[in-house]
Amino acid sequence: MSELPLLARKLDASDELAPLRDRFVLGTASDDAADAAVYLDGNSLGALPANVPDRVADVIRRQWGELRIRSWEESGWWTAPERIGDRIAPLVGAAPGQVVVGDSTSVNVFKALVAAIRMADAGRDELLVDATTFPTDGYIAESAARLTGRTLRPVTPAEVPAVLGDRTAAVLLNHVDYRTGRLHDLPGLTAAVHAAGALAVWDLCHSAGALPVGLDEHGVDLAVGCTYKYLNGGPGSPAYLYVRRELQDRFDSPLPGWNSHAEPFGMSPAYTPAPGAVRGRVGTPDILSLLALDAALDVWDGVSLTAVRAKSLALTDFFLRCVAEYTEPGRVECVTPERHAERGSQIALRCADAGEVMKRLIARGVVGDFRHPDVLRFGFTPLYVGFRDVERAARVLGEELA
Ligand SMILES: Cc1ncc(COP(=O)(O)O)c(C=O)c1O
Repeated sequence: MSELPLLARKLDASDELAPLRDRFVLGTASDDAADAAVYLDGNSLGALPANVPDRVADVIRRQWGELRIRSWEESGWWTAPERIGDRIAPLVGAAPGQVVVGDSTSVNVFKALVAAIRMADAGRDELLVDATTFPTDGYIAESAARLTGRTLRPVTPAEVPAVLGDRTAAVLLNHVDYRTGRLHDLPGLTAAVHAAGALAVWDLCHSAGALPVGLDEHGVDLAVGCTYKYLNGGPGSPAYLYVRRELQDRFDSPLPGWNSHAEPFGMSPAYTPAPGAVRGRVGTPDILSLLALDAALDVWDGVSLTAVRAKSLALTDFFLRCVAEYTEPGRVECVTPERHAERGSQIALRCADAGEVMKRLIARGVVGDFRHPDVLRFGFTPLYVGFRDVERAARVLGEELA
């Protein structure tokens, strides 16, 4: 008899973040009503925070239904992108006034990259992009390079220091790799980019809300991220853009919509950018999604990111231990680094029949996801995943792989 179920109980009992689970709506499993479903896909779509439905209902019924146009002022709709940006700021290690929420990550990658290239010295003609990146970043980088007359150079993050030089204008990197869960060295790579005189742009989609980021501390120039993964903002919730304070006056947006104007209601034909992070806005914000995100961010009240990181590593360590005990050796290959300094908050396991295995896991209430061609991804959201969940997920995985 394995000691792991008992150990999982003990770990749950001493987990200081365990009470946070009650701030979320979590369903029940399909094959065993006695056990709650195990949701390990928060790295794709975070679970629903319990306070969101009532808040969204209020936004719709009262703010929109009753106050109507007055809500732009009275319900704070107009300033919501920067106000909610200031709520995300501490989660990514940024002081207020540097983060604005709106548009998708893809659109913000475009704004950040073109703005970075425009800030770089004119003679710098190369844009480096993480060759292993989530595809949208690569597509957008290619277009940004073409529009600005730069050459796109895809390189792995490990190759970046050797490739940087006088020709580098900007570098787009991922803090955590979406497929392998590898955590890249944001402080070290940012310093190397700066030493070469270039600008560092980071995609935080898989790190914000899962581990400390330290944007200000490490002097990151520009950053983007989504809010529907570890920030639990809901399907399609708006992304955010960080522009370091010292660079804001030079941030020349390639999408200078009227919401980024210094006087949006002046209706002037001439464009004058607003000061600060507001300059990153474009058009009318998506208020329903934005205010669902605002409510979702309440779950972070009083939560320490250091504790979140410690639990995330404990969960992924425990998962690896359970997989090693419950799965025949060699049946899966772990592609997530063992070393804590190189691990985000997910575990990726490779096996030839990953797509079929994941379908069977989901049918049994253990929800992870499959990434083409052979990766099983399991995301560990410390706010609502517990050690018993982890043990059960690994046990069911072992059974399905047998
Ligand atoms: C690392 C990374 N960047 C960008 C995106 C795409 O973001 P969006 O669909 O908000 O444009 C994703 C989506 O999962 C992602 O994982």
